[in-house]
Amino acid sequence: MILVTGGLGYIGSHTIVELIKNNYEVVVVDNLSNSKREVIDKLKKITGKDIPVYINDLCDKKALRQIFQDNIIDSVIHFAGFKAVGESVEKPLMYYRNNIDSTLTLLEVMEEFNCFNIIFSSSATVYGSPKSLPIKEDFPLSTTNPYGSTKLFIEQILKDLYTSNNKFNITILRYFNPIGADESGLIGEDPRGIPNNLMPYIVKVATGELEILSVFGDDYDTVDGTGVRDYIHVTDLARGHVLSLKNQNGLRIYNLGTGHGTSVLELVNTFEKVNNIKINKKIVPRRPGDIAECFASCDKAFKELGFKAEKTIEDMCRDAYNYVKNNE
Ligand code: NAD
Ligand code: UFG
Repeated sequence: MILVTGGLGYIGSHTIVELIKNNYEVVVVDNLSNSKREVIDKLKKITGKDIPVYINDLCDKKALRQIFQDNIIDSVIHFAGFKAVGESVEKPLMYYRNNIDSTLTLLEVMEEFNCFNIIFSSSATVYGSPKSLPIKEDFPLSTTNPYGSTKLFIEQILKDLYTSNNKFNITILRYFNPIGADESGLIGEDPRGIPNNLMPYIVKVATGELEILSVFGDDYDTVDGTGVRDYIHVTDLARGHVLSLKNQNGLRIYNLGTGHGTSVLELVNTFEKVNNIKINKKIVPRRPGDIAECFASCDKAFKELGFKAEKTIEDMCRDAYNYVKNNE
């Protein structure tokens, strides 16, 4: 049985779909701090399976022990955590408490129950401002905000844990920019309030909920002056977790991206074309803390896991909008 923490959230829910497609049994723990109960029914519709879900906080050790008592857990995929960069600058203690305390509690309970297999959701944010591109896993690590620091600290905790007890199989996955949604249109990304990230913002302009997209800077040294990122379809990302699970052995670290960069304007243009809709936009100054360009070297994940992203930017734009249209 695979324990998926944060399994009702955006990436966790898509990973559950892929796990079930691959005949894994899944149990979920989520405290609904950034997700909705209705995802449980939607997962049932997509997979045809009743998935056991515990509505608990991962920081609650007693509750977590109960989950390990009730189920024979072979591996954990650990998505739970807070993820908004800006909010982490305003509320650093809340971010450190939630992301680090939950992980420590989880790891302690795993050791108690002799469960030694974990996959952790890290982020390309741990590369800080990369000196060259594409970004490889052995590049120097640094962060510029408390959210990123939680990822970096947890990576270090996992490395130290592995040194102390090499029964552990630990896979650290550094995601680039996940966007898009399941083909069914039933699950997807549903940020509360005004989105910080580009694709959710574009989608809300498309639905008319927001008036105009601010493009943060057009004077970067990139193809058209706007920021470049490595967008990966969330379903591809989810497949990366299944491949990681099948290849757990010691301490491993992989980038999960496509290896291709797309600019803000390229993404907006593709969105307009695929969905046949106009996105109002204006150029505004750069967002503090943003880097110009970021894309992954995907060689390691390909060689060692056989992972290759398959979906296109067109797929990502179509599926992201389809989800929101379905759920308006
Ligand atoms: P999400 O917010 O949609 O999902 C996280 C889930 O964890 C939510 O359902 C939330 O309710 C739950 N959760 C949070 N704290 C919890 C706690 N203490 N106990 C129990 N449940 C808790 O986020 P996501 O986009 O699915 O991201 C999943 C993971 O991937 C996060 O760790 C995130 O930092 C990381 N990540 C995300 C991105 C991205 O762009 N989405 C990029 C890189 C890394
Ligand atoms: N952008 C805009 N307008 C917006 C939002 C974003 O022009 O309204 C631009 C940004 O300047 C950037 C690009 O769109 O050039 C992508 O921005 P996102 O906020 O979507 O993504 P980031 O790469 O900045 O950050 C994301 C996550 C972080 C994570 C990082 C690396 O939000 O949590 O990817 O994985 F750390």
